[in-house]
Amino acid sequence: MRYLVAITGASGICYGLKLLEALQGEKEIIVSETGKAVMKHETGIGYEKLSEYGNLYSDDDLFAPSASGTHKIDAMIICPCSQSTLAKISNGIADSLITRSASVALKEGRKLILVTRETPLSVIMLENELKLAKSGATILPASPGFYKNQHTLEELIDFIVGKILDQLGQNHELFERWE
Ligand SMILES: Cc1cc2nc3c(=O)[nH]c(=O)nc-3n(C[C@H](O)[C@H](O)[C@H](O)COP(=O)(O)O)c2cc1C
Repeated sequence: MRYLVAITGASGICYGLKLLEALQGEKEIIVSETGKAVMKHETGIGYEKLSEYGNLYSDDDLFAPSASGTHKIDAMIICPCSQSTLAKISNGIADSLITRSASVALKEGRKLILVTRETPLSVIMLENELKLAKSGATILPASPGFYKNQHTLEELIDFIVGKILDQLGQNHELFERWE
């Protein structure tokens, strides 16, 4: 399986990093310019380090494979997804590799998961999310559950990443299931 993982400039870069670690399969990775800055700010990690998880592509490289629908990917996950990137995708703007690849995923009917963090949400944001959900995308807010006595930051991050892996049909033990 081949996945496209994009990291944008929303808070919660730790979700994207954990996803890259836990996701099984071939990975193509794109980090937006603000995503690079927020990653440095929140984690101290330089985005170049992500090349250990897969092939890194520049967000301004519209000649990269994922810019074309002929390049097969099984799913695209934007984690975290800023409301700015979400708004562009929702309105058909495809002027960066991340937004173009998301637009391609939608037109080709491929799985597109947007892990949002923003709160509260304006009517504009809600309408953008609704439009994307109606177009087949999955809006997956980074909103961890607490019902299994999650205590640590790591357990809360694992909960969200586990929910993403559930969407992709991958087995994991990132959280204990409700039985
Ligand atoms: C430290 C920091 C945290 C941010 N957190 C969020 C956030 O959680 N959600 C969001 O939608 N935007 C957030 N922003 C704003 C976005 O980074 C900004 O809208 C940017 O233009 C997004 O660009 P990108 O989508 O190309 O990465 C944050 C910005 C900074 C500097």
